[in-house]
Amino acid sequence: MANELRSQQVNEKPIPGGKNVLVEFEEGIAWVTLNRPEKRNAMNPELNTEMNEVLDQLEIDKRCGVIVLTGAGDSFTAGMDLKEYFRDVENTDMTPVEIAKVRKTATNWQWRKLKNYSKPTIAMVNGWCFGGGFTPMISCDLAIAADEAKFGLSEINWGIIPAGNVTRAVAAVMNQRDALYYIMTGEPFDGKKAAETGLVNESVPRDQLRERTRQLAKVLLSKNPTVLQAAKNAYKYSRDLDWETAEEYLFAKQEQQISLDPEGGRQKGLKQFLDDKTYRPGLEGYKRES
Ligand code: COA
Repeated sequence: MANELRSQQVNEKPIPGGKNVLVEFEEGIAWVTLNRPEKRNAMNPELNTEMNEVLDQLEIDKRCGVIVLTGAGDSFTAGMDLKEYFRDVENTDMTPVEIAKVRKTATNWQWRKLKNYSKPTIAMVNGWCFGGGFTPMISCDLAIAADEAKFGLSEINWGIIPAGNVTRAVAAVMNQRDALYYIMTGEPFDGKKAAETGLVNESVPRDQLRERTRQLAKVLLSKNPTVLQAAKNAYKYSRDLDWETAEEYLFAKQEQQISLDPEGGRQKGLKQFLDDKTYRPGLEGYKRES
């Protein structure tokens, strides 16, 4: 009995986050919710610290196969907290090193951790998404928005450039005309426009957002996780390489992924198509349980 209890305690890790970030597990999906609805989920230093911990813990938590990043209430996030992240930090006697640390704590989770995260990530943009919110939203692998969501590169409206790597992130997904238009005008736009510009994969009516996101998460959960991780990171790393180096890199990664795959996906996939003739890879995935 005591042993049983002990093993339960060891196996059931505490749920990460809890104050500024909520985490709920649902059949392999970790719903990660930025939770400062009264401040439109603006990202303050405390939330940023919590998000770093949440991402580190979820990466090794078996209850999490896919992360969905979203916001509480009617906002995804109103961006960096203009008071706690900007004004309060500038008005203290913090040293430049301490200020740099506050900034790194923000960007560490917003793109360094998220961009090449080992598990698939989906941004579910439920409402307001401004400024600094673009960085984590774009750094997620996929993004689905509510038609009614409101996006904006609002920095120009209050007197700064989109830093915190927002501009670099925007340049990764938007074409130059759209990027410069929204950077220079600060004009807000909705979920449909975000989908048109390639900022998100698609937009759906708000009342269908969670279900559509759940559906997409389940597709990702049905894939071989070793291959999925290698495939998404291969894309993200190789797009910044020249073609010669990319070819070398991708062959090497392919060998590594095949040798690391505990499921032996490649052999199964080939056998089920060529020998068993039980599926067609052009149309569906191989049967993983066999
Ligand atoms: N930083 C700090 N506080 C913020 C915030 C931000 N980015 N965004 C909203 N808040 C706070 C407001 O100060 C207000 O706090 P209070 O209730 O203590 O006065 C509260 O959240 C609600 O904001 P409010 O403007 O009343 O909500 P709204 O629903 O009418 O409008 C927004 C929502 C998002 C359009 C508006 O809050 C806004 O423009 N926020 C700034 C967005 C921005 O430019 N972000 C870029 C950061 S890089």
